[in-house]
Amino acid sequence: MKIKNLVVLLSICMLFSCTAQKVQNPSLNIIPLPEKVSFTGGEFCLNEETFLQLAIAKEDVGSVMLLHTMVSEIAGYDLIMGSGFPTMIKFTLDTTLKLGSEEAYQLKITPQEIIISAGESVGLFYGVQTLGQMLTDPQFYDAESKSWRLPTVEITDKPSFSYRGLHLDVSRHFYSKEFVMKCLDIMAEYKLNKFHWHLTDAAGWRIEIKKYPELTERAAWRSEKDCMTWWKGDRKYATAETEGAYGGFYTQEEIREVVAYAAQRHITVIPEIEMPGHSEEVVSIYPHLGCYGEPYRNGEFCIGNEETFEFVENVLTEVMELFPSEFIHIGGDEASKAAWRKCAKCQRRIKREKLKDEEELQSYMISRVGKFLESKGRKLLGWDEILEGGLAKAATVMSWRGEAGGIKSAKMGHDVIMTPGSHCYFDSYQADPKTQPLAIGGFLPYLKVYSYHPVPAELNTEEAKHILGAQANLWTEYVPTAVHAEYMLFPRLLSLAEVVWTPREQKDAEDFKRRIAHHIEILKNKGVNVFTLSDRVDMLMEVDTINKQVKVVLESEKYQPEIRYTLDGSVPSSSSMIYKDTICMTDSASVSAALFVKDRSSETVSTERFDYHKGIGKKVNYTHMYSGSYPAAGMTTLTDGYRGGLTYGDGRWQGFLKHLDIVIDMEEVLDINSVSVKFMQLTGPGVYMPKYVSVSISENGDDFQEMGQIKNTIPNNKPDLFLKDFKISFKKTGRYIRVFAAKQSGFMFVDEVVIY
Ligand code: ACM
Repeated sequence: MKIKNLVVLLSICMLFSCTAQKVQNPSLNIIPLPEKVSFTGGEFCLNEETFLQLAIAKEDVGSVMLLHTMVSEIAGYDLIMGSGFPTMIKFTLDTTLKLGSEEAYQLKITPQEIIISAGESVGLFYGVQTLGQMLTDPQFYDAESKSWRLPTVEITDKPSFSYRGLHLDVSRHFYSKEFVMKCLDIMAEYKLNKFHWHLTDAAGWRIEIKKYPELTERAAWRSEKDCMTWWKGDRKYATAETEGAYGGFYTQEEIREVVAYAAQRHITVIPEIEMPGHSEEVVSIYPHLGCYGEPYRNGEFCIGNEETFEFVENVLTEVMELFPSEFIHIGGDEASKAAWRKCAKCQRRIKREKLKDEEELQSYMISRVGKFLESKGRKLLGWDEILEGGLAKAATVMSWRGEAGGIKSAKMGHDVIMTPGSHCYFDSYQADPKTQPLAIGGFLPYLKVYSYHPVPAELNTEEAKHILGAQANLWTEYVPTAVHAEYMLFPRLLSLAEVVWTPREQKDAEDFKRRIAHHIEILKNKGVNVFTLSDRVDMLMEVDTINKQVKVVLESEKYQPEIRYTLDGSVPSSSSMIYKDTICMTDSASVSAALFVKDRSSETVSTERFDYHKGIGKKVNYTHMYSGSYPAAGMTTLTDGYRGGLTYGDGRWQGFLKHLDIVIDMEEVLDINSVSVKFMQLTGPGVYMPKYVSVSISENGDDFQEMGQIKNTIPNNKPDLFLKDFKISFKKTGRYIRVFAAKQSGFMFVDEVVIY
């Protein structure tokens, strides 16, 4: 560099006023949280004069260019490529560097340099992602001078799990290649590395197979766009030309494009071709591949028919040409065995192969396909039903019906990917269903995803090594558009990203709330239809029997929101009390709370009644025991202070199949003023109000005097959920309180008996 240029650079540098400074440890907004972060107290100035060193192997230029593009998109200038002064970003690929994982990297920021080092290209790529997240953090960027003031820091990072996945069902609803690529971009930013593409299912075949063009001509389209309407209706397939037809598929050319696009982002695309079940669309076109020889009868391949194997192998051969992934997912879930039981060919196969039953018949198919894949150097991956009838050698299991299948497989020495419905099914509601678009059910807010750990406690260290990682699944029966898919995926996918990358000990839900708030803004700016979190205030209660009080904690999934509340049941306003700490109550109050932003209340107001009543902790004697299926917390349930919520399965409601007939011992003779008992009615599942409730009092436990009776007035021919307090007020001294509720029908659900 000529001296003159150097002077110009130096003066520009001063103009940008980026002199090295001491900075406090800032809060980095990186997701997933890196393994080790140590601040060194200084500052690096990244500006137009920063050089981007290009001394790197050709295959790694991608990472350098990615950074180059990021800077030019944000700041509007191109970093100078080359080595030089005054500040530099260097990439070091050193295959002798031992960082504990091929995906590991180090990111070191000193006042003069940013150095990203890794043993493999993928590590460099992830180092750039981390630096990139710092560059999109407004706390470090000065738009006026177009420069970043980054804290000097040393980050050493590697993933906890090698399999960090996202599954997308493109059969129930079809999404464009561009949307898939958008997902891949976001996956890469959050260091996810496996895209599981659910390409075939009853609702449509989505991959061009040259040998079987009918699959996409006639089974990639259906008579109705909305998947559930179609499924509940005629379930007929169509062609692209049929009026009103809905569907689509990816050509082999498009698939190659997606696979290459993913590879540039260090993501492996794993195709799923469903078998032996979930194949109605195939059987509709090739009825001879089903046991009945007819379309629209069932969705299982006939395993007795050799032509099934010919078809499957031909399809998989083309699939393997398109997808270099070692794993090939063959589905394997939810196959009905009914047709196989009646099918002469299947029964012949069972006999000839000396199989015990239809489960072993299924296992025969999976094993045979597994061997075929192995002969081509690939590995079979399937849903946990592939355990039925014996697990094929070398198969890897995706555990979706809870973790049991995964635990069993790991103990047998098979590799496992965890994707239990409870924590990984993103088709569940992420907030109160009343506030959300229709979803399949369940409840999976982002913090529940975040709480997941893929290694169950039941596994020892050796077995735990078989847990390769975890995956989020987006099934799309209720997800008609790409925009809606984004809503279901984000921000929950970021929780999953941290679950599979960050060491468990480092995870911190409160800190994650802070970072997710930042990333929701980032995603919004990128045009992603991200869910901006629930406005609901959750009320958690603790009964403190020592100090005889109820403690109420108000929580939100948002980071440090302003919560205002009242204790008289009135709607909180901008002058109501601000929630700072646990609310302690020795009596009774109706707490109402809402989030506030700049004096404006959210629309959602949470209200709940809390009581520290005279009955808390008192013994309940049952004449007829509660149902073994709904014991709630057992003998203490009805006087524990905790109240049943909106569902009888919440562990608070106690279920009765006989009359409720209980006596509560108050331990001493007391003034009693009222007794109130709450019941639920939900006629669908057979839950009814009592016919009437009666309360009696006694001083000695033998002679009871009835204080009153209340008849039920809730009609029993309405499907709605009803909650009713049967409250009887009086003035009487006594020690024993008898509550009798006459059963009307089905189940009675009770909680709590509140005594004043
Ligand atoms: C599945 O959800 N049927 C794997």
